[in-house]
Amino acid sequence: MAASLEIKNLTRRFGSLRAVDDLSMHVPELSVAAFVGANGAGKTTTFSVIAGYLRPHQGRVEIAGEEVGAYRRRGGRMGLLPQDVQFYDNRSVYRQLLMFARLEGMSSSQADAEVWRVLDLVHLRDKAKEKPGALSRGMKARLGVAQALIGAPPIVMLDEPTAGLDPRMLAEFRKTVEALRGKTTLVISSHDLSELEALCDYVCMIDHGKLLSQGPLREMLGASSKVIYELDSAVSDLSEIAAKLEPWQVRSVDERTLEVTFDPRQSTAAEVNSKVLRILLDVGFSIRNVKSERTLEQSYFEATKKD
Ligand SMILES: Nc1ncnc2c1ncn2[C@@H]1O[C@H](COP(=O)(O)OP(=O)(O)O)[C@@H](O)[C@H]1O
Ligand SMILES: [Mg+2]
Repeated sequence: MAASLEIKNLTRRFGSLRAVDDLSMHVPELSVAAFVGANGAGKTTTFSVIAGYLRPHQGRVEIAGEEVGAYRRRGGRMGLLPQDVQFYDNRSVYRQLLMFARLEGMSSSQADAEVWRVLDLVHLRDKAKEKPGALSRGMKARLGVAQALIGAPPIVMLDEPTAGLDPRMLAEFRKTVEALRGKTTLVISSHDLSELEALCDYVCMIDHGKLLSQGPLREMLGASSKVIYELDSAVSDLSEIAAKLEPWQVRSVDERTLEVTFDPRQSTAAEVNSKVLRILLDVGFSIRNVKSERTLEQSYFEATKKD
């Protein structure tokens, strides 16, 4: 079971500041959606309105087509990992989660089974007896995700879950997301799009409380990403280079220009570039210039650049 999210003309002010300003956006069900914006763009405020912690001044929110207030009143579930999640330091990981499961109205045996289910999803089963203070930062982040997953809500919102994670922790977080993909709709906010590019299949970008752009990641990146090489001499035979570069595609734009196309969810431009440069140098080419087609992150910076 997964639910879509629809936000229609949502406005939330703090005094004269429009933290969310006539925001309309749509997240299709079963997406892993990146909700991206700079600090202060309005992400946490939007999540707080969806979760019912803040009232909107205008507009509405729908979960699976139902007005969110009505959805909550009839017991519809949603998971939220707050940006500054706090844990009770005197309770074990197991007991914190058990408490949340009981608050969801589960019997003690249901709650017990649910706690082990979510601990497995975030790979924390062996930490069940630990106090949160004994967990690493990456484990704490996963404990927060576990809490948001209790009751298997059809939509789960994670507010900046990747902030402050090192690359290894990010890799563990990705595994957790992979375990959820296709089971629930996930909306993951971040101010750092590069952390989410490899994770998400849908993107909503906001700035100053307004929507900048939204859509499937592939469309927003273009079908693919490209790195373009200008060479000092003409290429007579591409096949040797092409064979070495699989699964990336290479074609000649003109006799001295090569274009290498790759799936941005499989490789980064930097990885592609380091391998291509080595191969081109091995084969005996001098490289005059290298250009990368703009990434999603660059397109975000361009879209938010002030004139
Ligand atoms: N409780 C509040 N009172 C006053 N201003 C707030 C409050 N919460 C957020 N803001 C302001 O609203 C804007 C959006 O904040 P926020 O939603 O936290 O952005 P983000 O999560 O994208 O960093 C910011 O300018 C922030 O300072
Ligand atoms: Mg925030």
